Amino acid sequence: MKIILVVGARPNFMKMAPILYEIKKYPDRIHPLLVHTGQHYDKNMSDLFFDDLGLPKPDIFLGVGSGSHAQQTAKIMEKFEAVLLENKPDLVLVVGDVNSTLACALTAAKLHIKVAHVEAGLRSFDRRMPEEINRLLTDAISDYLFLTEASAVKNLEKEGVSQDKMFFVGNVMIDSLLQNLDKAKQSTILSQLQLEKQSYALLTLHRAENVDNRSAMQEILDALMEISKKIQLVFPIHPRTKNKLEEFGLLPKNFKITDPLGYWDFLHLMSQAKFVLTDSGGIQEETTILQIPCLTLRENTERPVTAEKGTNTIVGTNKEKILSHALEVLERKKSQTQIPDLWDGHAARRIVEILLNLI
Ligand code: UD1
Repeated sequence: MKIILVVGARPNFMKMAPILYEIKKYPDRIHPLLVHTGQHYDKNMSDLFFDDLGLPKPDIFLGVGSGSHAQQTAKIMEKFEAVLLENKPDLVLVVGDVNSTLACALTAAKLHIKVAHVEAGLRSFDRRMPEEINRLLTDAISDYLFLTEASAVKNLEKEGVSQDKMFFVGNVMIDSLLQNLDKAKQSTILSQLQLEKQSYALLTLHRAENVDNRSAMQEILDALMEISKKIQLVFPIHPRTKNKLEEFGLLPKNFKITDPLGYWDFLHLMSQAKFVLTDSGGIQEETTILQIPCLTLRENTERPVTAEKGTNTIVGTNKEKILSHALEVLERKKSQTQIPDLWDGHAARRIVEILLNLI
C-alpha cells in the first residue's frame, strides 16, 4: 500500500510524526511518501520541528508559500495533483484543519483516491474561521475519519456521516507530547529567557479573527497589558501576528517577546508556566495533559473536551472577562484535570492498525 502523508503548517508536523513512525514498523506492507506543501517555510515554523521530532526530510516539497486563501489552496492543488498523477498512491492521509489539509484532500478525492482525515469531526460552529470551513469540507470528502474526542462523533452523526467511516482513536498530538516530554525537560529555554518556573504566563496569538482586526487586537492587548503588571508575559510571536502588530503600531514593549520556538523549547516553556493565554487549538489540548491552566482567547472552541475535562476555560476576547479569569488563575494553587478518553499516547498505533485492516 502506497500512502501519501501530507504536512504543510506548523501543527501538522507534531500530528504526523507519530503516524509516520508507526507506519515505518511495517516496511513490507506500507510504503509512505511524505509531502510538505511549504505552506509554512520559515526555519522556525517548519525545519525546527523536523529536527526536534526526528522527521525525515520530505520526499516531495511543493514550496507553495503564503498567499490569500484562494491562491494558497489553488497552488497546493495544482502541484499536488501532479504528485498524485505521478505516484498513484492508494491513500492520501491528511491531518488537522489548515489550508494544506483541505487542498490535498480535495485534489485526491477528485482523482478518486481514498482520503483519510486525522482529527476529523471537530466543530467550532463558527464559519468565519477558515479552519472551520477546512474541517467541514475535508470531512465531507474523506473516506476514513479518525476522531480525537466524543464531540466529534456527535457532530459527524448530526451531519449524517455513516458510522463505518468513523474511528475514535485518540489524539496524535498527545502521542507526540508524551513521546517528547523527557527531551523537552532538557531544554534550556528558561535560563535563556531568564525565567523562573511558574513566574510567568505564556502567551500565543495568531488567529486571523483576533490579530488581523485592529480593534479586536487592541481590546485583547488592553487586557494583556493589565495582566503583565502582575506577572511577566512571555510571547513567542507568530510571523502573521508580528507583521500585524507592527502595522498597527501595537507591538507591546513590556512583554518578553521571542521568535517562534521549536517544539521542545515550547513544550518546556508551557509545562513550567503559571498559566497559558492562547487562541491556538492544539495548545488547549497540550495544557490539558500538562495540567497547566489555559485561558482561551476565543468565543468558542472546536475542542470542548479540554474545557469539560481539562484545564481549559473559554474566556472570549472581552477585556474585563480576560482580566477577571487571569486574576482568578493567578491565585489558583492547583488545576485538576481528567485525561480525555484514549489520549494515552497510542492514537497513531490505532490509526495504522485500522489502515492495515481496511486496505
Ligand atoms: C495557519 C493555519 C492555522 C494554524 C496556523 C499555525 C490556515 C487557514 N491557517 O495559519 O489554522 O493554526 O497555521 O501556525 O491554514 N508566515 C511567515 N512564515 C511562515 C509562514 C507564514 O512569515 O513560515 C506569515 C506570512 O506573512 C503569511 C502569514 O504568516 O502570509 C500567515 O500564514 P498562513 O499559512 O497563511 O496562515 P497562519 O496564520 O500561519
